[in-house]
Amino acid sequence: MPADLREQILRLEDTFAISTETLKKITKQFVSELYQGLTPEGGDIPMNPTWCMAFPTGDETGTFLALDMGGTNLRVCEIVLTEENGEFEIIQSKYRMPEELKSGTGEELWGYIADCLQQFIEYHHEGENLGKLPLGFTFSYPATQEYIDHGVLQRWTKGFDIEGVEGKDVVPPFEEALKERDVPIKVAALTNDTTGTLIASAYTDPDMRIGCIFGTGCNAAYMEHCGEIGKLAHMKLGKDTPMIINCEWGAFDNKHAVLPRTQYDVIIDKESPRPGQQSYEKMIAGLYLGELFRLVLLDIHTHEGVKIFEDQDVSKLRKPYTLDSSFLSAIEEDPFENLTETHELFQRTLSIDAKKPELELCRRLAELIGIRAARLTACGIAAICTKKGWSACHVGADGSVFNKYPNFKQRQARALREILDWDTAEDGKWKRKDPIEVLAAEDGSGVGAALVAALTLKRVQEGNL
Ligand code: GLC
Repeated sequence: MPADLREQILRLEDTFAISTETLKKITKQFVSELYQGLTPEGGDIPMNPTWCMAFPTGDETGTFLALDMGGTNLRVCEIVLTEENGEFEIIQSKYRMPEELKSGTGEELWGYIADCLQQFIEYHHEGENLGKLPLGFTFSYPATQEYIDHGVLQRWTKGFDIEGVEGKDVVPPFEEALKERDVPIKVAALTNDTTGTLIASAYTDPDMRIGCIFGTGCNAAYMEHCGEIGKLAHMKLGKDTPMIINCEWGAFDNKHAVLPRTQYDVIIDKESPRPGQQSYEKMIAGLYLGELFRLVLLDIHTHEGVKIFEDQDVSKLRKPYTLDSSFLSAIEEDPFENLTETHELFQRTLSIDAKKPELELCRRLAELIGIRAARLTACGIAAICTKKGWSACHVGADGSVFNKYPNFKQRQARALREILDWDTAEDGKWKRKDPIEVLAAEDGSGVGAALVAALTLKRVQEGNL
């Protein structure tokens, strides 16, 4: 490999490395921000009470719709929770979330979603008299909730920038759009994807304590006691009453006290629709990993004395957000020996005919970005477990990065071991089962949302709402 490229690799290794010591420092700060977020004064991390106040027992029954408005797709499901304990049936349809909707108006957004629901009902229940179907709406953005079936959007995240929605309750305009189309649906519960993930995972696993999403965005929810939630003290809910908190931990360290941000992270933030927000998420989440990769390559390309993609047309590489995290996954999956798939990817996606040493640099860069992201996520998990004093539990995780990014799980698990000082065997190899395990979750935005709707209706019937 030419010396200039080798030098760049060393520089990148240095730029993206996060030592055990730094991970521990970040975790410590994280714990204090979790506490701060629960106080009446609040902090960077919103720590939103969700009014989801019980885990399912497995006895829940009924038919529910679930709507998942994530960052990339729109999904509608119909879930039947059957009499069989813990069993369910599901039918679902996926709709594309048009890119232009993300920067359009609220009216367009709710209209589009209502159209999809209408299509779903017409397709699956043509001519049937349904009454009003209860809907669990997975709205995966930070929302202030005073009731479980309402939520005021605090701010858009994940690149969304729809005007006139922030600071307002999202349910009334959505229900209005449904009414205009005569769609027989009533929102029973508004839920975050992390809450749904926790609930769905706890449905089948009693050791579940935390629900996480590592996908387009990154976030976690866990079960807290109301006595710990200073900002709800005025409601006198009883100190042992359980309440799921949606941390919205993507906002961790918005003050830039501990996260080792690189020049590339700074650019991502500056060019985003909401600069200064979601600092942690912007270093970790799928939406940003490909963009980080692109910014680094472009920087090296323009670096004096470094020859990369010489005499190549890099105009496609100059276009923001052309690469998503699946691009990096594919590079990491490609056997290092020849990198033929990577070569083809560069040609197909960027019209760049990359040479072998250039491909090797790209491969190392993809690894470094993936390793950093996975290691940083471990800080959030360790922080919640530390705050709650959980030394052994299960964490349910979902999202494209968790499920599809090569080596993500192993890297995350390794960082957890480093942070929590779990001993390795004498030969340096890890032999025991990890006391805190991150496991692939059940479908939180489908069955999780339906379960939250079922639990809510149960509370209503019992007169507890
Ligand atoms: C963003 C959203 C959060 C969601 C996460 C994962 O962080 O703000 O609500 O849980 O993405 O989708």
